[in-house]
Amino acid sequence: MTGLHRVSEAAPDVTNQDGLHAPETDDGLAIKVRGLRNAFGAQVIHDQLDLDVRRGEILGVVGGSGTGKSVLMRSIIGLQVPEHGEITVFGTSTLDLSDDAATRDVRRRWGVLFQGGALFSTLTVAENVQVPIREFYPELGQQLLDDISAYKVVLAGLPANAGPKYPSELSGGMVKRAALARALALDPALLFLDEPTAGLDPISAAAFDELIRDLADTLGLTVLLITHDLDTLHSVCDRVAVLADRRVIAIGTIDQLVATDHPWIQEYFMGPRGRAAQLADTRRSAGNSPDIQASGG
Ligand SMILES: Nc1ncnc2c1ncn2[C@@H]1O[C@H](COP(=O)(O)OP(=O)(O)OP(=O)(O)O)[C@@H](O)[C@H]1O
Ligand SMILES: [Mg+2]
Repeated sequence: MTGLHRVSEAAPDVTNQDGLHAPETDDGLAIKVRGLRNAFGAQVIHDQLDLDVRRGEILGVVGGSGTGKSVLMRSIIGLQVPEHGEITVFGTSTLDLSDDAATRDVRRRWGVLFQGGALFSTLTVAENVQVPIREFYPELGQQLLDDISAYKVVLAGLPANAGPKYPSELSGGMVKRAALARALALDPALLFLDEPTAGLDPISAAAFDELIRDLADTLGLTVLLITHDLDTLHSVCDRVAVLADRRVIAIGTIDQLVATDHPWIQEYFMGPRGRAAQLADTRRSAGNSPDIQASGG
């Protein structure tokens, strides 16, 4: 890969035409938000919000219901125009996402799993995955689209025969995976996941967590992961940002966060559920399985 970045003396560098090598900032940040303000009428959602997401990290975003986590994600990807602030993704502002080459380039580098999945109900799973590919690569033939979507379906942990199914024919866990397959459609460098494990049973949620961690590690992804799931925060995230009082009040590892004395952070991470998740994580790290006596046999 390094050779692609080398500046040729003889000819201009044309390797960024595939979108993989768009201009990169050297600040090590995938996402940079400064002074963000969002309001709906008199209701101020964000004010003076700053956020840094480092390249290659999985950053969890937590906060009470309605604190503006989804609105923050929508602002970063250009779906919600803020009143004030600056937002850059890989060094490109996303506040004015017109259809010019630079903004298309940056949009092609992210994938989004919306809260609730947001699949097109009249399209099959495979067709859903093909939507973003068709948008950016209209010249691709149907056979190639079928091959790529089949690969993404399996990459997201679905059985290959899920491709021709409609969203209404899937379980909740399969809908999340189908939405993940669509988010992975364009080989993104950056993934936005809004409550990916909400509503899943604990075993499916843990399997989804593992899938995200594995994909991030193998594909070198940066992930912004909005979640209420304490187990996910412990097992998947490198750092966690806490949204409260209309801004990011703290960001760091969970150990760093619990060392602060903010009452919401203390209650969230050190309440009964937070402590149980912490214990489970400690056990996981130590490779201990709980003592369970099976009956029968
Ligand atoms: N398009 C909109 N018009 C008006 N108000 C909105 C709009 N979108 C979001 N809001 C309001 O903004 C606030 C933040 O919403 P948001 O969906 O970001 O919360 P959240 O932190 O994601 O909550 P949850 O954890 O329940 O998903 C809420 O009070 C919501 O009602
Ligand atoms: Mg939300």
